[in-house]
Amino acid sequence: MAPHITKAVIPAAGLGTRFLPATKAMPKEMLPVVDKPAIQYVVEEAVAAGLTDLLMVTGRNKYALENHFDRVAELEATLEAKGDLAKLRSVNESTGMANIHYFRQGDPKGLGHAVLQARMHVGREPFAVLLGDDLIDARDPLLQRMILEQEKRNASVVALLEVDPSQIHLYGAAAVEATDDEDVVRITGLVEKPSAESAPSNFAIIGRYVLRPEVFDVLEKTEPGKGGEIQLTDALQRMAVAPDWTGGVYGVVFRGRRYDTGDKIDYIKAIVQLASEREDLGPELRPWLKQFVGTLQD
Ligand code: G1P
Repeated sequence: MAPHITKAVIPAAGLGTRFLPATKAMPKEMLPVVDKPAIQYVVEEAVAAGLTDLLMVTGRNKYALENHFDRVAELEATLEAKGDLAKLRSVNESTGMANIHYFRQGDPKGLGHAVLQARMHVGREPFAVLLGDDLIDARDPLLQRMILEQEKRNASVVALLEVDPSQIHLYGAAAVEATDDEDVVRITGLVEKPSAESAPSNFAIIGRYVLRPEVFDVLEKTEPGKGGEIQLTDALQRMAVAPDWTGGVYGVVFRGRRYDTGDKIDYIKAIVQLASEREDLGPELRPWLKQFVGTLQD
């Protein structure tokens, strides 16, 4: 039996320019989604999938991330003295969830480069990569499924979502072949952010990967691609066409709830949707939303 996967890499070195000025002095991963920073959802997802050894690849301006997952003795003492146990619990939730390690990527040269920084930490075992811009609803476990497929097929596995063809230029796009399992496809090719006309399909990679360590060997030789950055998609393309030594690449087709917090409109949608479903906020928010929608003119 192969040892169970325990490691995850969370790239968090992006500059967050789409959210300026909010992200001038604060990492974009700390932007709240309702009342938790986006990064906490990602860490919770990893932990729920049994991954307890996390490496965050960070950059300048990212101290808030480390602070968020650390204890704040003063705040804990104040809440304890006040007897505010609910708030104390919410503060402690992000502490001690997992072993979180940090690596500073001095020179951000793209997602592939960020993942390559994890090589020493990960070693020669399969590992997961979770991108913070994509939030997967905890009720629709995706990562668990991907880990099972990785173990079963001894391949690398990415999460795929069928998107509207007009959106495919925002993603890595996959050429796929069916397998016996309707939720799993074999990937025969990958292109980073193709135009709608040249895309091999409308299967988009969403930010979850479970990779074999051979990806590091490939990334090391991967030249800058789209946008002058070292692209993880390009490395996976090479693995997809060399299954003899990489195990190939498979896609788990996700049909659950995903929230994109990578751009402003989607971020706002994610907050409204999640808040309106929450037991503590929904009952007040939903009727207000309905009434507000009624006031909107086309
Ligand atoms: C990255 C990847 C892309 C993937 C996307 C998912 O792009 O390069 O292949 O489809 O994440 O969110 P980014 O959105 O960081 O530009």
